[in-house]
Parts: sequence; structure tokens; C-alpha cells
Amino acid sequence: MTDTVLVTGATGTVGRHVSNELAERDYSPRVGLRDPGVVPESLPDVADVVEFDFVRPETWGAALRGVDGLFLMRPPTVDADTVSAFAEAAARVGVARIAYLSTLGAERNPLIPHHRIEQRVVATDADHTLLRASFFMQNLAEVHREDIVEHDEIFVPAGTGETSFVDARDIAAVAATVLTEPGHENRSYDITGPEALSYADVAAVFSDVLGRRITYPEPSLVAFVRRSRGRGYPLPFIAVMCAIYTTARLGLADRVTDDTRELLGREPRRIRAFVEDYAAEFRPETAQ
Ligand SMILES: NC(=O)c1ccc[n+]([C@@H]2O[C@H](COP(=O)([O-])OP(=O)(O)OC[C@H]3O[C@@H](n4cnc5c(N)ncnc54)[C@H](OP(=O)(O)O)[C@@H]3O)[C@@H](O)[C@H]2O)c1
Repeated sequence: MTDTVLVTGATGTVGRHVSNELAERDYSPRVGLRDPGVVPESLPDVADVVEFDFVRPETWGAALRGVDGLFLMRPPTVDADTVSAFAEAAARVGVARIAYLSTLGAERNPLIPHHRIEQRVVATDADHTLLRASFFMQNLAEVHREDIVEHDEIFVPAGTGETSFVDARDIAAVAATVLTEPGHENRSYDITGPEALSYADVAAVFSDVLGRRITYPEPSLVAFVRRSRGRGYPLPFIAVMCAIYTTARLGLADRVTDDTRELLGREPRRIRAFVEDYAAEFRPETAQ
């Protein structure tokens, strides 16, 4: 089976857990970093670190040398053509298997970059597995953390729509599974959590676990854009967030599948487990 796996986005929300999952399975992950001189603590000590930058093709050859499997993700700032060209180069030099981190519904939405990347990955000679992930729970600890820590609220314009939140650690475990075990070649999976929840439900779980009241004020799109602009987020990023939360508001983000449970042989993590594990990040006294 796969021996050496190159992990892209290895400092990112999912990738950092992919390399750890591979190391736990006695595989030696190779992590591709834009700056290999700065290896984050989140990566395993034994990691084989190489310089890799999607937008610098001169880094691709050395990063792909001797690689059998590839965990491929698209950084939000890199265009679909560049990511696709890298996948094609990987297949050309003999990478046998590619697991691509896509998004739920990508096959039906030609407007998003994942749609085009999926098609080009599928067209390569490599065996591929498309991992169409739902909304990450970790978004709450990243872009929305400040609202929770400083305002005790979850401030997203999702109305009463429900979302099948998935824990990035479970996505990483799925990626390691499909890259190291047989039977997942040329398949696609919808990677969701075990339940669909509204943000009011999520706020109730936060309140319970953190022991203080976290509210969900159901902000409008306009209020959300205003606050995001006030924080200095770039407009394209705000536009993407608005599209994502509008999808949820319209009830299009609530699909729950069994794929994660079947692939992992256990229940995917619930939002309660996520909040318990990340509780320190949501406490004002430990806020950095
Ligand atoms: N968030 C969600 O709810 C969700 C749901 C489904 C799918 N997705 C998809 O998941 C992907 C993001 O995954 P993530 O959240 O794990 O990543 P992330 O946390 O956004 O991190 C981005 C990663 O890409 C790396 N990177 C940035 N520019 C690069 C370049 N030019 N060359 C090589 N590496 C580069 C970053 O490395 P540095 O440390 O060098 O910056 C970092 O490791 C996106 O395609 C998104 O659409 C997200």
C-alpha cells in the first residue's frame, strides 16, 4: 500500500491532523511547507519536511520525489488551476493515490473551485478519493472565536438553518484511512458530523460546556458584513463567508451521511466533544 504520503496544507486546520494520523499508523508523512525552516509544534517530530509552494512549481519536483500518496487541499488563496496542475504533475511522476479535500456538494456546483479541481483530479491516472467535507467545527475556534470569547455570542448570518458540522480531526482520520487502506480508490465520500444543528443549538452546547451564557443573536447579512469589515477581513473572504452562511440559512447545509462513521468504524465527534476539547480556547482568561 501507500508508503510515503505528501501532506499539503500541513499547518492548516485539517492537514496538521493528517500528518499526525499518518504517523500514528506508522506511516512517515512528508510535510510540504512554504517555509521548511519553521516547523510548527503541531507536527510530529519524525516528519520528513520539504519546501513546497503551490505557486512555485520549482518546489514540486523535490517535494514529490518518492511519494506514493498525496493529501491534496486547496489553500483559500490559491486558484483552482494551480492546484489542479500540481495534482496532474503528481500523477505524472508516479504518485499512485490522491485524497482531495473538497467540500460538500462540490459535484453539483460548477461555480466553486473544488468542482473544477475534482474533475481534473479524477482525470489523472492516479487513484483518487474525493473527501467532500461539511462545515468544520474548528471554524468556531478560528474566525468566530473572538465573538465567543469577547461577546459571548456566535455571530453568523445563518438564520435558523441547520449545519452538519464535522470535526477537522475526523476529516484527517478519514484522509489517513483512505490513503493507507485499500478499497477507497476512485470513490467520493460526504464527510459530515453525526447530526445537523442550528446555531441556537450550538450556542446552547457552548453555554452548557463553558458554564456561561453564549447566545446566537441571528444577525442579518448586513450586520455580519459590517462587523467583519470592522475586523479588517478582506472583502473576498467576507463574500465567501456570506455565501456559506446563506447556504446554511436556506437549509442546504444540513445533510448528514454515514460515510464518516463507516470509514472510521466509530461515531464522528459531536459538537459537544469539540467544545469540551477546545474549551480553553473559548475562555477569556486563557485567550491569547
Ligand atoms: N472551513 C470549512 O468549513 C471547510 C469545509 C469544507 C471544505 N473546506 C476546504 O478546506 C480547505 C482549507 O483547508 P484547511 O482549513 O485545513 O486549511 P487552512 O487552515 O485554511 O490552511 C491553509 C493551508 O494552506 C497552506 N498554504 C497557503 N498557501 C500555500 C501555498 N501557496 N503553497 C502551499 N501551501 C500553502 C498554509 O500554509 P502556511 O502555514 O504556509 O500559511 C496552510 O497550511 C479549503 O479548500 C476549503 O474550501 C473548508
